Amino acid sequence: MMRRLGMELGENSYSIFIERGCLSGIGRYISENHRSCRRVAIITDDNVGGLYGRWLEEDISNQGIGKAVISVRPGEASKSLETLKEVYGKLSDMKLTREDLILTFGGGVVGDLGGFAAATYLRGIPYIQVPTTLLAQVDSSIGGKVAVDLPWGKNLVGSFYQPKAVFIDRELLKTLDRRHLHDGLAEVIKYGFIKDKALLQELEGCRDDDDLLRKIDSVIFRCCSIKKELVEKDEKDLGCRMLLNFGHTFGHAVEKYFGYEKYTHGEAVSIGMAHITRASEKMGITENGTAAYLEKLLGKFGLPIQPPEMDRAALEETMLLDKKSSGGSISLVLLRRAGDAFIEKIDQTEIGRFI
Ligand SMILES: NC(=O)c1ccc[n+]([C@@H]2O[C@H](COP(=O)([O-])OP(=O)(O)OC[C@H]3O[C@@H](n4cnc5c(N)ncnc54)[C@H](O)[C@@H]3O)[C@@H](O)[C@H]2O)c1
Ligand SMILES: [Zn+2]
Repeated sequence: MMRRLGMELGENSYSIFIERGCLSGIGRYISENHRSCRRVAIITDDNVGGLYGRWLEEDISNQGIGKAVISVRPGEASKSLETLKEVYGKLSDMKLTREDLILTFGGGVVGDLGGFAAATYLRGIPYIQVPTTLLAQVDSSIGGKVAVDLPWGKNLVGSFYQPKAVFIDRELLKTLDRRHLHDGLAEVIKYGFIKDKALLQELEGCRDDDDLLRKIDSVIFRCCSIKKELVEKDEKDLGCRMLLNFGHTFGHAVEKYFGYEKYTHGEAVSIGMAHITRASEKMGITENGTAAYLEKLLGKFGLPIQPPEMDRAALEETMLLDKKSSGGSISLVLLRRAGDAFIEKIDQTEIGRFI
């Protein structure tokens, strides 16, 4: 069954296709929808390229379109200016033009790096996102945030640059290791708690990972629908799109505190969501029982819910350096109850009450 979502952003609108096996329809889609495209630069990483690169290359070649594969080393370290420079070099070598296309084929690292290359090379080349991790399929591939990291922090150089299409093929998730599958589920659970109680019930009903993977298309569709709605209302992340940061202020700080090595992004967000909700429930802001429900669902998928030992002052300082704080205040996302979240602007000095 093919599910399609239209992201409505005026001239930057695009379709998100969610369909098992859709990887093998991309070549045809390009030849039908990007008629002037002569070459495709496939940006991927060594893992994903090794597993699936040949299929995608063949599919594009079969349409008589030229292609080159640019494969980077797997991992966050590739979201760097050094790797970006290598990518620019290869795009120049293949003489890519603005009539052509970039295809990002991988997890969030490849999507963010490749998307930023697309946003900036020749002042912008159209690109298509083909996300291959659950995190990328429900979150990073849609919404147009692209970036690379600097030694001073994550995502410090970036842009808002929407793709021309997103292809989500759940078959690719079969080779994803368990840790990264659960990593993406933290974001799925986040969507449920901020906006969609029925999604939480669907997750509750899953017997195990295999059962979840069988139902994953409908889960992905729900998550993408929520992100679509928030991005359409607030493309540049100044208002309601911030709801997507539930658990992230504390989560980012935990990730950073441990040098991005101890926890994956999703694991840190899991700790962040549980921690802030326990606090807001104690303060009477959140309906009783919500934190326990959240912990139960996170725990079911092996996600951590308790913060490790950390130096409190250093942690608070890291939180205040987060992008979401500005002019003495910080925007926190809190729950009223499962499926219902709101943004609370608090004074920086109050942050201690929530951690
Ligand atoms: N742009 C956004 O809105 C946004 C949102 C959330 C996260 N992000 C970014 O996403 C990045 C994290 O993305 P990620 O979690 O996807 O990590 P990732 O891209 O590093 O992928 C995780 C690992 O899985 C491997 N892999 C990917 N697909 C696979 C598959 N189908 N089978 C087997 N192995 C596979 C990769 O090679 C890598 O080793 C971070 O840099 C984060 O900042 C961006
Ligand atoms: Zn996130």
